Formats: sequence, structure tokens, C-alpha cells
Amino acid sequence: AVPTGALVISDRENVTSALDNPLKFSLIIPTFNEGQNIKEIVTILSGLLDRIIPDEYELIVVDDDSPDRTWELACELIPTYPQLQVMRRTTERGLSTAVIRGWQAARGEVLGVIDADLQHPPEILLQLWGEIVKGAELSVASRNVEGGGVSEWSIVRRFLSRGAQMLGLAILPEVIGRLSDPMSGYFMVRRSAIANKPLSPVGYKILIEVAARGQIRWIAETGYVFRERVAGASKVTWKQYVEYIQHLVRLRFSLWPVTRFLRFGVVGFSGVFVDLGVFYVLRTLLGIGLTRSTILSSEVAILNNFLWNDVWTFGDLSRGQEGNRKRFRRFIKFNLICLSGLIINTLIVNVLFNVFNINEYIAKLIAIAVVTFWNFWFNLKLSWRV
Ligand code: GDD
Ligand code: MN
Repeated sequence: AVPTGALVISDRENVTSALDNPLKFSLIIPTFNEGQNIKEIVTILSGLLDRIIPDEYELIVVDDDSPDRTWELACELIPTYPQLQVMRRTTERGLSTAVIRGWQAARGEVLGVIDADLQHPPEILLQLWGEIVKGAELSVASRNVEGGGVSEWSIVRRFLSRGAQMLGLAILPEVIGRLSDPMSGYFMVRRSAIANKPLSPVGYKILIEVAARGQIRWIAETGYVFRERVAGASKVTWKQYVEYIQHLVRLRFSLWPVTRFLRFGVVGFSGVFVDLGVFYVLRTLLGIGLTRSTILSSEVAILNNFLWNDVWTFGDLSRGQEGNRKRFRRFIKFNLICLSGLIINTLIVNVLFNVFNINEYIAKLIAIAVVTFWNFWFNLKLSWRV
């Protein structure tokens, strides 16, 4: 299911135009009021790419209807640079969506992005491409590896930039920890690594989205010095910082199913009371034997938990005809996983108590915590198949 507002890059099989005329490389140049830079950047990039992959690349300017008419100036360059295309957007705005829209229209096997304002040194493009040729899925220009840096940044700006990176590391370590410069807006990625993955263009930082949602084993980094802007003005405001944090939190929730886990926990808790209640009826009111009462009450609790999880915790996955048809199968799997959890629970309590001499109740709490994760994870992956 594609979340609302998410954008998807197709794999080439699904794009008829791409099948007709595939290319090696598509480079997006997002622009907003870059009239003073557009000619120079297009000229330099064309010169560089003509040296390595002539006729096998395209440059795509994605302009958000700039008041300085960047789109018009870009169109005037097309006769001289026939591999240039211009997308003028009038209904959507923002850097991230500009990049994704550009990639959606692109025909390349490798997709890239570079700023139009010449703050990203164009020559680095050759090294970035070299890494892709060697096999990297993601090739990033970084200010924080050898050969990289910033030119004349104030202490405050450096501090803010590092602070943002630390925050990212705290919230999303498995993604940010792989990138020395997660804020980079200068990189290339293989289409195959992000094809059919819904990308949510919340943030300004499209690289984080790509690294988090893409299937990326090899990340290569090339140092570059972030140059000062000569012409035009930056579009960054405090709003980008807020969006950055929102972006991190959103990715956190989507990479770890935090909400689902909490719901699963609540349902599990409800099961304890169902179990006790049924046990009371069977044992005390009806006088049924201890073992039979225990097994029956557990099974009723499992059924209770299954139903709540099926309609609530995983409700989005079990709806529809297909979902109804497989409900019984999910229930059986749920039962088996809970049974395996019970066995593990017993083992952990015994080991902690008998081998490590840990207090019985603490051992029990540890076992419950472990088994809750166990049950959640395997039910997520096997019963509801996320
Ligand atoms: N289409 C479109 N729409 N393009 C935009 C928009 C927008 O809303 N906002 C900015 N751009 C374009 C600019 O015209 C420029 O080519 C590029 O995106 C980067 O925007 P800048 O405003 O120059 O950003 P910056 O220099 O502060 O930020 C740079 O540094 C970051 C690293 O800290 C950019 O390179 C970022 O991509 C990079 O992540
Ligand atoms: Mn810039």
C-alpha cells in the first residue's frame, strides 16, 4: 500500500517510454530563481557528461515556475544542448518533490541530483559516476570525508549543521550512521535501489529518504568543498529545520512500527484479563479441572488477542475480501507463534532463575518483555506479512 502523498519511482519494466529509449543516467537540476546560474551549470555539466557517456544521459531542469523565468532561460538552451529537458511545475512546489518528479519523468538507469547554483562543484560528477560504475548503489558527494569541507561558514552555521547531524544520529542511527554528510543534496542512486519504494517528500533532505527507504548495500562517498554562492539567493529558512525533524520522526515511525507495537502491547494486556476472567468462570463457578481450565482460558485469551490485533493493530492489512478469506490461516499462525512464545517464556524463566539466580518475578518480567517482542515480530512478519 502506498501511503497518501507518497511518490513512487517505477522500475523500468513499468515505464513504456523508458523501455523505448532507456539511458544510462538522468541528472535532475532543481531550480528556483536560478536565472543567473542556469546557463553556466548546464554548459559545464553537458561538457563533463559528453566526455564520459555522450548520448547516454539527460539533464532535467525542474523549475517551480520561478518569477525570474528560469524555466524560460533553460528552454532557450535546448537547441544548443539537445539532451536537456525542462519541467515547469505550476501546481506543486518544493525541492524534494521537484527531485522526485524529475526522477519519475527520467529514463536513466542511474538517477542523480545537483544544485543549480554552482555550490556543488560539477567536476566531482565524474568521481561520483566512477563509484557507480564500480558497483555502488548510492554515490554521495560529502563535505565530511577527505577532500571535503565548507568554504566560509560561520561557527554558528557549522554548529547548526553538526547539531542537525547529531540529532539525526540519535533518532535514526541505522540510516544517518551510514552517511558522513546526510544533508548532502548532491548524489546519484541506482534506479533499481529505489524503484517501487514509496518516497514521501516531506523533507528538504531527499538523500535521507533515499537511504532510509531504498535497498542500498553499498554507499560510496566522495569529498567536495561546498562553495559559496556567487549569484542568486539561498531558499533555506528556519522552516527547513522543522521539516527536517518531522522527516526524521516520520521515518522512525515508518522503519520501526512503533504504533503497531504499542497497540500489540495494549491488546496483549487485555488478554491477561480475559484469561483470568475465563479461568475464574471455568474453575471456580463451573468447577472444571485446573489443567483444562488453564488451557481453555489461554485459548480464549489468544482468540481475543487475535481478533483485536486483526481488526485494530493490523487492521489496515487484514481488510478486504482477500483478508477475510485468510483470517483463519492467520489465526492458526498466531496460535503457533504464541505457543512458541510460551515455550521461550518458560525457558528464559528457568535459565534466569536456575542458572543466574535471578529473582523469579524479575526473571518473569524479563521473559515477558522478550516474548512480547518475539510474538510481535513474528506475527508482523508471518501472520500479517509486513
Ligand atoms: N524546483 C525547486 N523548488 N528547486 C528549489 C526549491 C524549490 O522549492 N528550493 C530550492 N531549490 C533549488 C535551488 O534553486 C538550488 O538549485 C537547490 O535547490 C538548492 O537550494 P539552495 O537554496 O541553494 O540551498 P542551500 O544552498 O542552502 O542548500 C544546499 O546545501 C545542502 C547541504 O547543506 C543544497 O545543496 C541542498 O541540496 C543541500 O542538501
Ligand atoms: Mn545553494
